[in-house]
Amino acid sequence: MRVLGIESSCDETASCVLEDGKILSNVVSSQLVHKVFGGVVPELASRAHQKLVVSVVKQAIEEAKISKEGIDAIAVTNRPGLVGALLVGVNFAKSLAFGLEIPVIGIHHIEGHMHSVFLENTELKPPFLNLIVSGGHTQLVNFIDFGNYKTIGKTVDDACGEAFDKVAKMLGIPFPGGPNLDKIAQAGNPEACNFPRPMLGSGNFDFSFSGMKTAVKVFLEKQTQDEITKNLSDIAASFQEAVAEILVTKTVSAAQSLKLKTIVVTGGVAANSRIRSLMAETAVKQGFKVVFPRPVLCTDNAAMIAFCGWKRLLKGEKSDLTLTAFPSETI
Ligand code: KG4
Ligand code: ZN
Repeated sequence: MRVLGIESSCDETASCVLEDGKILSNVVSSQLVHKVFGGVVPELASRAHQKLVVSVVKQAIEEAKISKEGIDAIAVTNRPGLVGALLVGVNFAKSLAFGLEIPVIGIHHIEGHMHSVFLENTELKPPFLNLIVSGGHTQLVNFIDFGNYKTIGKTVDDACGEAFDKVAKMLGIPFPGGPNLDKIAQAGNPEACNFPRPMLGSGNFDFSFSGMKTAVKVFLEKQTQDEITKNLSDIAASFQEAVAEILVTKTVSAAQSLKLKTIVVTGGVAANSRIRSLMAETAVKQGFKVVFPRPVLCTDNAAMIAFCGWKRLLKGEKSDLTLTAFPSETI
């Protein structure tokens, strides 16, 4: 089965073609229009998706070396996300499905992230513990089986990616904050500043990141601009280390408690170099298998959406042409 994927929930316009779950093409166009604003501007994101969607889908079909008549179904992100941005992908997917007389299926963006790991790890089978860390989510999920998940912990305030982006902004690191902070941190000393590790001893698997933003803010207020500039990589590395330690400690203890042998980390923040290395060192030492998708499959892409759609289509599920977009994750 060939599934065309479309993803437009935030600032990436993405499309792909999968054949029986294997990537034939995977095109991601990151919108540059937000750079001058230091963050994603929803209205501009919708307009950019509208401009890009046709050429991105066309490129995905061309790179897969098929014709559009060779597509069997379309999977599209329809929740959660920026609703104006989602609507562009959903409407285009429905129109194309209508024209080609093929099924369309709406996919939850986070369920898509959870499936990104299967794209290149074909041997991997549930159950496993999935840490999902993105710009809007931080969740520990017991991936019991396809379509059967149990959330065992989540952030009580900000998402981990949001904390990366806000701290990057405070440090004057340009958009996109998370990946740029990661690069700068590589030259820094992770023990230079002692930032807090909120909720590390909370006795549950929930997270909190808003206090970390405040801690960095208070720390910066006591520094001169020259000191901040001089110590930028040390500050970035210390913040990143604190986040990595929280994520790794909680995840490993959740895996122990659930007696799960495999840990999977997905979502944009799973591209972070220190989170990857600390998770690998710590969890492997304690006898767990750790699997990360490649960084390009951690950040937003359509292949993860198409894979999740393919799994659901195989079960006989599909959406009808009243499919619409929802900003919230509860639907
Ligand atoms: O999954 P994603 O691409 O989009 C959402 O669903 O939100 O995640 C985006 C988030 C952003 O907050 C971005 O700064 C963060 O992932 N991110 C990173 C890195 N790459 C992306 N954060 C830290 N280090 C990275 N290398
Ligand atoms: Zn995402």
